Amino acid sequence: MNAVDFVLRGPVAVLTFANPPVNSLSAPLRQGLAASIDRAVAESAVKAIVLIGADGKFSAGADIKEFGTPAVMTPPSLRQLISQVESCEKPVIAAVSGNCLGGGLELALGCHYRVATKEAMLGLPEVKLGLLPGAGGTQRLPRLLGFETALNIIVSGEPVPAGRLAKTPLIDRLAEGDLAASAVSFAEQVIAEGGKRPRVRDRSVREPNLEGLAQFARNTVKGAFPHFPAPLACIDAVEASAGDFETGLVTERRLFASLMQGPESQALRHAFFAERAAARIADLPEGTPTRDIRSAAVIGGGTMGTGIALSFLNVGLPVTLLEVKQEALDRGVAKIRETYEGQVKKGKLKAEGAADRLKLLTPTLDYAALGNADIAIEAVFEEMSVKEQVFKTLDRVMKPGAILASNTSTLDVDRIADVTRRPGDVVGTHFFSPAQVMRLLEVVRGKRTAPDVLATAMKLGKTLRKTAVVSGVCDGFIGNRMIGQYARQAEFMLEEGASPQQVDKAIEAFGFAMGPFRMGDMAGNDISWHIRQRHARERPELKYSPLLDRLCQAGRFGQKAGAGWYDYRPGDRNAQPSATVDALIKQRRQELGREPRRIDDAEINDRLVYALVNEGAKILEERIAQRASDIDVVYLTGYGFPVWRGGPMFYADQVGLYDVVRRMQEFARNPYGDPAFWTPAPRLARLAAAGQRFNDTGGAA
Ligand SMILES: NC(=O)c1ccc[n+]([C@@H]2O[C@H](COP(=O)([O-])OP(=O)(O)OC[C@H]3O[C@@H](n4cnc5c(N)ncnc54)[C@H](O)[C@@H]3O)[C@@H](O)[C@H]2O)c1
Repeated sequence: MNAVDFVLRGPVAVLTFANPPVNSLSAPLRQGLAASIDRAVAESAVKAIVLIGADGKFSAGADIKEFGTPAVMTPPSLRQLISQVESCEKPVIAAVSGNCLGGGLELALGCHYRVATKEAMLGLPEVKLGLLPGAGGTQRLPRLLGFETALNIIVSGEPVPAGRLAKTPLIDRLAEGDLAASAVSFAEQVIAEGGKRPRVRDRSVREPNLEGLAQFARNTVKGAFPHFPAPLACIDAVEASAGDFETGLVTERRLFASLMQGPESQALRHAFFAERAAARIADLPEGTPTRDIRSAAVIGGGTMGTGIALSFLNVGLPVTLLEVKQEALDRGVAKIRETYEGQVKKGKLKAEGAADRLKLLTPTLDYAALGNADIAIEAVFEEMSVKEQVFKTLDRVMKPGAILASNTSTLDVDRIADVTRRPGDVVGTHFFSPAQVMRLLEVVRGKRTAPDVLATAMKLGKTLRKTAVVSGVCDGFIGNRMIGQYARQAEFMLEEGASPQQVDKAIEAFGFAMGPFRMGDMAGNDISWHIRQRHARERPELKYSPLLDRLCQAGRFGQKAGAGWYDYRPGDRNAQPSATVDALIKQRRQELGREPRRIDDAEINDRLVYALVNEGAKILEERIAQRASDIDVVYLTGYGFPVWRGGPMFYADQVGLYDVVRRMQEFARNPYGDPAFWTPAPRLARLAAAGQRFNDTGGAA
């Protein structure tokens, strides 16, 4: 089928447009629509025109792949197309079903009439990409819905079902039965009544309390989205709709252009594309078969095992949970039950829903109960010998074709695979705590992981409503390997003169959800300590400050112990500065013979973030990550990196890699600096010297 299919139904030209999968308004589709409308105008038999999207959906909007490319201005631009529709000498009716979003809704608003199914979803989600509707949406929507309703839709970006707007002038008729037939009969009625062509632009926005409402909205969004300029710009644009239409359009265009250039929107668009790119694996052809996952076994019912079990139960997949001791099993089951009870209490889940999910859980101490599961996910202690034992047993009991997955944070998945007779079936599925909440899933691809096993693990991520990113095998995979360098750097700064609270405060002001010391206290400092003890044996070249060892030797494991880098009052998770920790740090500085020096917040943030970036560059070089944007996705979805900065690699690109390297050289020269730490990774050095970016090249330079 052509982009636009032209069919005459009596005096009505029905233009069915298609651009799978979402009918986005790409340049070829806009051209097709413009030409078809011209044809309908030229044919004297045509008295009215219906625009309808193919496959039951109107249009999800502009083609965002065109943003920032010449294609976006390829005539007709969306604005030009809408103007053509609005000034068309024959009435144009939008027949709306499915998604009618962004530019799709703006096109419908340019039509003279709108007939919609009640389920059609109408919205202007541009704000979610740091933008505003730039093709008249901010000027036309308030003319139909009033200032306040339009503002809510535009600032929230949330779509609304057409049924809910049925009584507004936005919807001229709710379609009964077949949408096209309904739209054609509506068009015939318009023709019978003289073919009037009402234009939204000719309406006016009457709102007596416009200024008050706008001010209220500004105060609200400033509090809710302090780092994003788009919601405020949406308010400015919608406020302009109260004046002259053409002037309002000029305001909208100006605001749109400035958001488009701004770093926040660039970061949000990067994040949007990065998540989609992460699903593609270069050497895994599309259509690689996947195995069915209809049930799971989870080994180990501790922090992670229970969270992983919850993730499966939440999407209706049965789970058999195995522990070694009855007591541990009871604790795990109780934690799952309590999680659901908490959700019922908060009104997030109905009691029957909780009961249904719990029915899908089978606790056991017996491996024989696992054999029929399609996947087993191991979440036992982080000890190679324990994991090897578990995998030998899984190899014996699991049915042929079952996937054997490990939730290890740092251990060698290839070694784990080698203890089985089916290394092709072994893969890492690294969840983040709390597993039922965190979106990130690192899928660790072993040397021998079979293609269909990898494809299944990626698909499982989607089923569990996670964002899956592939990582190769290395110590810590993508996320924890990088965070290790960040934590090392944070502790070196304590030895030089900073306090835990200063470091946390600085990086939290940069936008991280939590600074390194508060994060350590939350996750448990013993976890990092355990890893460092292993590093002391296996990777002695990695130098650490001994502060964490000393903290842990004093039992300061974090929140769970009531003491970590901070003190905690009983029942209170708020971190209080600790005199004990201050003394520990002071003693260490004395040992080193150091006078503490003042480290400013900019230095703290640059050292922490560039520690991530440099390790990220090594990870790319070693092909542990497929592309720079995958690293960004890991940090945005698993480590609380501020989304308006786009992830560490994108952020470094924005700063400019040349400047990043210069700054690292400065750190190496500081009196206590560690030149080895700050040696730019070869990939970073190369890109910086060539004036290139990590993300331009997909990290493939
Ligand atoms: N805690 C985190 O934030 C986190 C995040 C990602 C990955 N991980 C990884 O997940 C795994 C589990 O970590 P956790 O924090 O849930 O630990 P945990 O100590 O809370 O739980 C481990 C559980 O495994 C059980 N267990 C031990 N040996 C067993 C065996 N042979 N068979 C069956 N059960 C056994 C223990 O009884 C315990 O309940 C580790 O590999 C860890 O590195 C942890």
